[in-house]
Amino acid sequence: MVSFCNFQKGKKKLGLLDLEGALTARDRVGIQDFVLLDAHNSETAFLDNLKKRFSEDLIYTYIGTLLISVNPYKELDMYSKKHMDLYMGVNFYELPPHIYALADNAYHTMLTEANNHFILISGESGAGKTEASKKILQYYAVSCPSSALLDTVRDRMLMSNPVLEAFGNAKTLKNDNSSRFGKYMDIQFDSQGDAVGGHILSYLLEKSRVVHQNHGERNFHIFYQLVEGGEEDLLRQLGLERDTKHYNYLAQGECSSVISINDKNDWKTVRNALSVVHFDDTDMEHLFGVIASVLHLGNVQFDGDTKGYAVLNSNAELRWVSKLTGVHVQILHESLTYKRIEARTDEVLCPFTVDHAIYVRDALAKAIYGRTFTWLVNRINESLENQVRNIRKTVIGLLDIYGFEVFYVNSFEQFCINYCNEKLQQLFIQLTLKAEQEEYEAEGIEWEPVQFFNNKIICDLVEEKHRGIISVLDEECVRPGDATDLTFLEKLEEKMGNHPHFVTHKLADKKTRKTLDRGDFRLLHYAGEVTYCVVGFIDKNNDLLYRHIKEAMRQSKNSIIRQCFLSDEVDSRRRPETVATQFKNSLLGLTEILMAKEAWYVRCLKSNDNKQSGKFDDVLVRHQVKYLGLMEHLRVRRAGFAYRRRYEEFLKRYKPLCPATWPHWRGVPSEGVEKLVKHLGYQPDEYKMGRTKIFIRYARTLFATEDAYEICKHELATRIQAKYKGYRAKGEFKKQKEAATKIETCWRGVQARKEREKRAWAVKVIKKFIKGYMTRGQAKTTDNSEYLAFVRQSYLNRLRDNLPKTVLDKTTWLTPPPVMTETSAMLRQIHMRLMVRKYVRGITPQKKAQMQLKIITSAIFKGKKDSYPQSVAVPFVDTRISEQDINMRVLQTIRHERIKYSVPVVKYDRNGFKPRPRQLILTQSAVYLIEEAKIKQRVDYVSLTGVSVSNLGDTIMILHVANDDPKQKGDVVLQCDHLFEAVTKLSVLTKKQDAIKAVQGSIKFQFHGGKEGFVDFSTGQEPMVYKGKNGHLTVVAPRTRGR
Ligand SMILES: Nc1ncnc2c1ncn2[C@@H]1O[C@H](COP(=O)(O)OP(=O)(O)OP(=O)(O)O)[C@@H](O)[C@H]1O
Ligand SMILES: [Mg+2]
Repeated sequence: MVSFCNFQKGKKKLGLLDLEGALTARDRVGIQDFVLLDAHNSETAFLDNLKKRFSEDLIYTYIGTLLISVNPYKELDMYSKKHMDLYMGVNFYELPPHIYALADNAYHTMLTEANNHFILISGESGAGKTEASKKILQYYAVSCPSSALLDTVRDRMLMSNPVLEAFGNAKTLKNDNSSRFGKYMDIQFDSQGDAVGGHILSYLLEKSRVVHQNHGERNFHIFYQLVEGGEEDLLRQLGLERDTKHYNYLAQGECSSVISINDKNDWKTVRNALSVVHFDDTDMEHLFGVIASVLHLGNVQFDGDTKGYAVLNSNAELRWVSKLTGVHVQILHESLTYKRIEARTDEVLCPFTVDHAIYVRDALAKAIYGRTFTWLVNRINESLENQVRNIRKTVIGLLDIYGFEVFYVNSFEQFCINYCNEKLQQLFIQLTLKAEQEEYEAEGIEWEPVQFFNNKIICDLVEEKHRGIISVLDEECVRPGDATDLTFLEKLEEKMGNHPHFVTHKLADKKTRKTLDRGDFRLLHYAGEVTYCVVGFIDKNNDLLYRHIKEAMRQSKNSIIRQCFLSDEVDSRRRPETVATQFKNSLLGLTEILMAKEAWYVRCLKSNDNKQSGKFDDVLVRHQVKYLGLMEHLRVRRAGFAYRRRYEEFLKRYKPLCPATWPHWRGVPSEGVEKLVKHLGYQPDEYKMGRTKIFIRYARTLFATEDAYEICKHELATRIQAKYKGYRAKGEFKKQKEAATKIETCWRGVQARKEREKRAWAVKVIKKFIKGYMTRGQAKTTDNSEYLAFVRQSYLNRLRDNLPKTVLDKTTWLTPPPVMTETSAMLRQIHMRLMVRKYVRGITPQKKAQMQLKIITSAIFKGKKDSYPQSVAVPFVDTRISEQDINMRVLQTIRHERIKYSVPVVKYDRNGFKPRPRQLILTQSAVYLIEEAKIKQRVDYVSLTGVSVSNLGDTIMILHVANDDPKQKGDVVLQCDHLFEAVTKLSVLTKKQDAIKAVQGSIKFQFHGGKEGFVDFSTGQEPMVYKGKNGHLTVVAPRTRGR
């Protein structure tokens, strides 16, 4: 057995996900390793797990390093190159269980430890042993390093399979390609891991098949392949017909053609394979000659003569045998019908009965075929032999051997096969316990005795010298007298009578006896009881072939046959070893071979008996689990501790579960683990601390830890995620900041460069400007042209914004720079004209009339009366008193004269100068002074001699009236707020513009009776009108700006 320690060594990767990795998936598809099955003693739990996995097409499951494989009876997509690559160099438990994982682990352990290994593949017929061994071989062929020379070895190794299968496999009721021999193949590797050679050992070929097949079974494939696929010429040379039914040795099973087998194609494969394993034409000719001669031999028939002795029915077939073997036909004839008995010096020919002759014929056929098979194996071994000698080699042996067999009737073959399995179980126990013990010792852990059944007692029962069943059988075979199968049984009863694992009808108690026939003996194998029928034991064990037949064969011209019957054997007077002893010895040899190696196990299980995919037959599998000793295996594995792991690895995985070990344990790993398990609450009996490993007794302890880890993992993941996100964000921020700084720097650079350019440009412009300024008075040059243009433009711009708004505005005009003087004057003129035009266009007829009036006002008063300038802007109106405000009687009286204008005035009495409010009405022909309904005075325009006003800012006007009319009251002194308007209207109506005078100083006025009065004008703070001390009307006009 290989310890856990061993397979951990030398891995390319030591991942976290070794054993523990498998645990995470355990809920989904059962448990990948039975060692971790809590109910490890329960067969039901065991089967449940297998079934659960099988239903998911998970055909592989481990028991520690043992691989269980359940035949799926369908192609699964798990053997591709991709899968091989996947499993290459990967730790045992990192990936789901696979035959490649086992192959790879064996290979890498072999390389790193430079020791030898073997993979034992067992299981009942049809369970998939041969397929498994082929998969392993293919894995090595594809994944091991290679060279041209090695490729040849590799091809030969791969091609040895179809050849051996053709000669050693046959269709049985259980398997269409059943291996009818045990096979052990060594694959030799050099120190680099290159496959450099190989060697095959074969065990106990089922020769009886050559001459007899049960119904529904076939002879070895090669016979059918030759008959079906052989080329015409070849068949002709061999004297064969293309009809399997023609041959007795092929026709008994009545199923020469099988759906799953294509003999024609297989023939081509085999021929090609033979040439790859270095068979030349002569070899092939002889080999096919042997096959054909066996077929012909099978067709040799005997009749009985009168005495019942055998006579040849026809010579035809024998002649072909003779032709093909190169043994004279006569000799053959004689050999098959007579036995030569040496009596002292004479030889006596003793004729055979028909049955005896048939027995001899069949014995010969079996011998030829059996020996040829051995020869073939040897021949293949020659071609596989390592060409490069003197190099360090290590090997991996592949043992594809029959598993326990229990039939309804079990014979000598089953006895041998089951004995073989007992031996292998014994080997397994020894190796497993040895390895376990060694590991305990290495780890300094006290060895705990493992409770399991040791089958040594059964091995001894079978093989012990002088006392074992084989010895008894051999004795019976050689002893003189009439030894029969029954006498053999009696001998057994005699010798084994008390053995607890041996029962016969005679020895059994009443109850057991019922289950046994008289010719049976029962062995209580480690895997269960098997009842054997003794019939045929003696014969099969003897496997006799008469000396004279061997001699005849020695004369063969066929080199293969000649090599199969060597003179040593023929000449030897010693009795050849019996089959059982041969087998026992070969197993002894095998045990020795295997004991020197480290073991890996593949146990193949048949899922059902119908070769049906997807069907899991509980009863059948349970049976196999028992017979393959899987529960035994698990028990040994689990006897001590279910789980062990190196401290470093244990700590690496579970350290997050304990604050003391997370995130790092800096101390000695074992102390870290101790702290960790204490923290987890492991009880003292649950674990032990070895030198380099922790040993955990129960799987449930580990599961609890694993579950805790699962939970913790999520928390950890979240934490790590958060940290990582933070880290990413920080990184991102840093990047952005750097980028921003970079952009900023670049931008500042750009700005600075722009600024610099701008400044340089400004300096140039300013310089030019200054130069232009300095030379502005000179003629236009390149230096000042721009300056001047600028001056012009800026003057024009400013001028545009500061143009005079009215025609009257004579002051607002920007002083032009010298270059623009002329232009400015022109523009001013244009602008004035424009304003005038605009103004003129905007004048209405009313306004025009009013302006004409204003012109008149101007002509009268401009420069003559102080208040005139203020009056200019005050517009004239048509009249100041509307007709409604004039008394009706007055209106009626004067309306016919047409009222042109009316304005309220104050009239000063001519004597006391009392002010009296009056309405002044101008008609077409006269001036009226109205007081309410009274016309106080009417002055006809003809009588109006003039109008006087002062030159000051007052509003007094004096209407001078002609004195010639005695009815007239005389001149009138009025004060009118709208003096200019009233006077102008009056002047227009009277057409006496010249009669209006602005007088400086006092104004004299006259009134009826030739009386005179004066109005004195002066200026003062407050405007006033009063009667002065001199008796004059004194008018104080407000001071105007001019005064
Ligand atoms: N891994 C597998 N995948 C698919 N089919 C398989 C697998 N293993 C076995 N089989 C099927 O089962 C059949 C029998 O397998 P195999 O010949 O390997 O059995 P065996 O154990 O060698 O039997 P025997 O003891 O009779 O030689 C194969 O021909 C194949 O059809
Ligand atoms: Mg097989």
